[in-house]
Amino acid sequence: MSAIARILLLLRLAMASLVAIAMSAAMAGSPPTVPDTMAQRMQPCSACHGKEGRATQQGFFPRIAGKPAGYLYNQLDNFRSGRRAYPTMTYFVEQMSDDYLHEIADYFASLDLPYAPPQTVGAPADEIARGQVLVRQGDAAHGIPACVQCHGTAMTGVLPSIPGLLGLPRGYLVEQFGGWRTGQRKALAPDCMATVATSLTPADITAVATWLSSQPVAVGPAAAGTLARPLPIACGSVPP
Ligand code: HEC
Ligand code: HEC
Repeated sequence: MSAIARILLLLRLAMASLVAIAMSAAMAGSPPTVPDTMAQRMQPCSACHGKEGRATQQGFFPRIAGKPAGYLYNQLDNFRSGRRAYPTMTYFVEQMSDDYLHEIADYFASLDLPYAPPQTVGAPADEIARGQVLVRQGDAAHGIPACVQCHGTAMTGVLPSIPGLLGLPRGYLVEQFGGWRTGQRKALAPDCMATVATSLTPADITAVATWLSSQPVAVGPAAAGTLARPLPIACGSVPP
């Protein structure tokens, strides 16, 4: 059995036992013993996203705690609508209503938890330098806008729907760019990140991921409230 199949089986068993507990409590005439809170209902998510949605730096799972609510909602909707493809995520959200997706997004956006220390250390100096230039200044000669023009000068994202760039595992960053280049990950059209990802060379992507994942994250980084307009490229997921 694959690791994912095993996790799914465990989740099904866990949900079945919650139902059994609630039913036996109802039959005994006493209140259910499991509190029905968002934290309780979102427990299965922590198998992959870490405790309370705070991913570890190991591996490929993104942190979801503290990301802007509009961004999180868009991602849940992307999995539901097939713009992003990851079978476990699709399985969770395919039957959920819009209202519930908003509730989930608001819950995880409200969590303010410390970040793990930077993951990438000891990368080659020229790779680090190239990554920093691309993030902070872009590369006008190759039509690449600076990442900070959209993600905020502090790189902590911009409300309501642009995520921060810090505290993400290096492997996850590289994977997302790969997804945008091949069309496996899409955002609402026009998909500005697809344009950015296809303008970067594979070496640029490595450099950007290396530099970003080597930056420390301040405690409780708040997303910026406003963005200089117009954006360098139009983004369908950013409200006008
Ligand atoms: C079996 C592991 C697993 C479980 C359980 C799981 N997720 Fe995920 N989730 C992932 C992976 C892997 C990704 C990234 C997929 C990709 O690269 O497109 C992801 C992506 C996401 C994203 C997008 C994050 C971003 O920054 O773009 C959100 C939001 C999310 N999950 C929410 C949830 C919620 C809410 C639950 C519980 C109801 C949950 N996940 C349960 C593995 C899981
Ligand atoms: C024109 C604006 C714009 C520019 C420039 C831009 N981004 Fe983005 N980026 C976005 C938007 C909007 C999203 C959210 C897309 C979605 O809803 O899926 C995003 C999402 C992302 C994500 C997904 C984060 C996650 O948690 O899954 C990564 C990684 C990312 N951008 C990295 C970069 C990097 C690195 C650069 C510079 C090389 C860059 N972006 C430049 C607008 C931009």
